[in-house]
Amino acid sequence: MPIMGKETASDRGSQVLPKVPVPPLKQTLDTYLKCVQHLVKEEQFKKTKAIVERFGAPGGVGEVLQKKLLERRDKMTNWVYDYWLEDMYLNNRLALPVNSSPAMVFPKQMFKDHRDALRFAARLIRGVLDYKALVDARALPVDFARGQLAGTPLCMEQYYHLFTSYRYPGLKTDTLKVQMNAASSAPEHIIVACKNQFFVLDVVANSKQLNELEIVSQLEKILKMSENAEERLPPFGILTSDGRTEWAQAREALTKDQTNRGSLALIESCICVVCLDEPSGLQPSDNNRALLMLHGGGREKNGANRWYDKSMQFVVGMDGICGVVCEHSPFEGIVLVQCSEHLMKYITGSPSKIVRASSIRELPPPRRLLWKYNPHIQGLLEASRERLKRLVNNLDMDVFKFKAYGKEFIKNQKMSPDAFIQVALQLAFYKCNKRLVSTYESASIRRFQDGRVDNIRSATLEALAFVQSMTDERAAFTDSEKMKRLRAAIDVQTNYTVAAITGMAIDNHLLGLLRIAKELNMEKPEIFCDETYLASNHFILSTSQTVPSSLQVPTTVEMFCCYGPVVPNGYGVCYNPQSDHIIFCVSSFWENTKTSSAVFVKALKEGLLEIWDLCNRSSAAATKVADSSQEASQPHKSGK
Ligand code: COA
Repeated sequence: MPIMGKETASDRGSQVLPKVPVPPLKQTLDTYLKCVQHLVKEEQFKKTKAIVERFGAPGGVGEVLQKKLLERRDKMTNWVYDYWLEDMYLNNRLALPVNSSPAMVFPKQMFKDHRDALRFAARLIRGVLDYKALVDARALPVDFARGQLAGTPLCMEQYYHLFTSYRYPGLKTDTLKVQMNAASSAPEHIIVACKNQFFVLDVVANSKQLNELEIVSQLEKILKMSENAEERLPPFGILTSDGRTEWAQAREALTKDQTNRGSLALIESCICVVCLDEPSGLQPSDNNRALLMLHGGGREKNGANRWYDKSMQFVVGMDGICGVVCEHSPFEGIVLVQCSEHLMKYITGSPSKIVRASSIRELPPPRRLLWKYNPHIQGLLEASRERLKRLVNNLDMDVFKFKAYGKEFIKNQKMSPDAFIQVALQLAFYKCNKRLVSTYESASIRRFQDGRVDNIRSATLEALAFVQSMTDERAAFTDSEKMKRLRAAIDVQTNYTVAAITGMAIDNHLLGLLRIAKELNMEKPEIFCDETYLASNHFILSTSQTVPSSLQVPTTVEMFCCYGPVVPNGYGVCYNPQSDHIIFCVSSFWENTKTSSAVFVKALKEGLLEIWDLCNRSSAAATKVADSSQEASQPHKSGK
């Protein structure tokens, strides 16, 4: 987790981070076997072991591929970046909302009226421009690693993609474009979505940025224009919520028309999208706010008041439900968290800038984006609407604030909080399913040039041993045995974390070997056709920690991050450990009869409390032993 340093990114221009390493082949293959052995049937594992041994044998296919990968590493800044981006995001055909785009839920706002909401939106936009100026000037303080292996500078590249990226849908694969404009041709407009209409809001007039009051005035014009029923156009944004191939097909139909090409070009080149949402009519509970941020509530609510391809999409609901949903391919959640914190600090930290904004210029009204359509396109809109409806009805979200303890208690046990939480998640899953499954935990590799993430495979053999001891029906395990297993599970998890953040995890490496074989037009190596490999990449448990940085906003303005599961029978678990509590956002799909977010949360709570009890009993027992041995070593007092 990053902390902010004093050095800025431009100071660091000359400081080159190391390249992502390619781990030794044998090390990866050994780790792979260790990771999967207890997750597949014994017979299957035997097969896998033989396949892996053939792959890694001297003079075998593995050696050839490894050599090519090392050559690729020498030639490129980051050998895994493109492979990873395509595999993780661009080749994925699923709809962006829920399946891919994470959201950050802002603190609930109490707007008195529409104008109040627009004032908030205007200040948010000013905050975005303020942050963007820092990003553009490369003036953000460099992040330094915290936690495990603290103190190393981290790659800042992801920040430069925040406002410059756009993901184009493709028939087979998407394209992520990052604008590398000269400052003079940088975009100077934001797209505002309101009542499913899209408007161009120029944020610069006569070479001067709009002040807060001017933005409020422009937003008021937008609100008014959106209310004009005669000019209202169909909800084109809904197309971007569809499967990527479906949206690519629809986009092809749209671009046949010059007007549509013009509207698309303006959206594709904007700084960000700001969605002014209608009141949702839902209670502003954590769950509902998370759901609304992830999918907008479908066409009936604000699901079409979005443009999912754009990387930063801020939502300001007239009912005070606010947040940001982001297209994930250009950056990780940590960058989203840092940006959101800056914005919250900007919005809440300083007295109203409106008071100080002395004048308001007469500005031309924002422009409505126009669309040409025909019955075919109307049919596509209808089909997208149906598919979004299914996605909305399918998402089962449970935001759970665990209040009994947080990071401090765990640190006092001399354990890594992140590893502890991962082991607790394994316990929860085991309680629900009596087995462990392939688990993904994102580990940042920003210690390296253009580093994104690799995977910490948390379903370890040691975690299995621990959860079995905790759930044993015969209660055959003593506290000291359980405690021993807990420590072993946490140690192994921590070691894997350290390996992952230093570029020694296995997932990126295996992907690299697979992709290089494809590039060489080789037959797919059998290791990658093996049932075990396929199962090991089906992440039923997809987890990640997102922690607010040291840039603290008051604790009353708590924000949280959330996302959906990555497979139909899986869970998405995003967690945020704070000193005295932990926030979990657990998601799954209603359509799958084997998953239930509420059941998982119940098991998680139970497990966290049981581990707490175990630690407390063990500490009490240790104190007692220490006391009695101290007593025994003291000279006997006779009282005479
Ligand atoms: N005893 C006492 N304290 C300990 C400890 C121990 N044995 N082990 C760790 N700690 C402390 C650390 O010093 C740290 O202290 P701090 O809060 O003062 O900084 C704290 O506990 C947290 O450390 P830990 O829980 O071990 O985790 P971490 O911060 O190193 O995080 C990852 C681990 C994997 C989450 C992190 O490396 C990472 O990659 N984060 C990014 C994930 C990401 O990309 N998410 C977004 C995906 S979209």
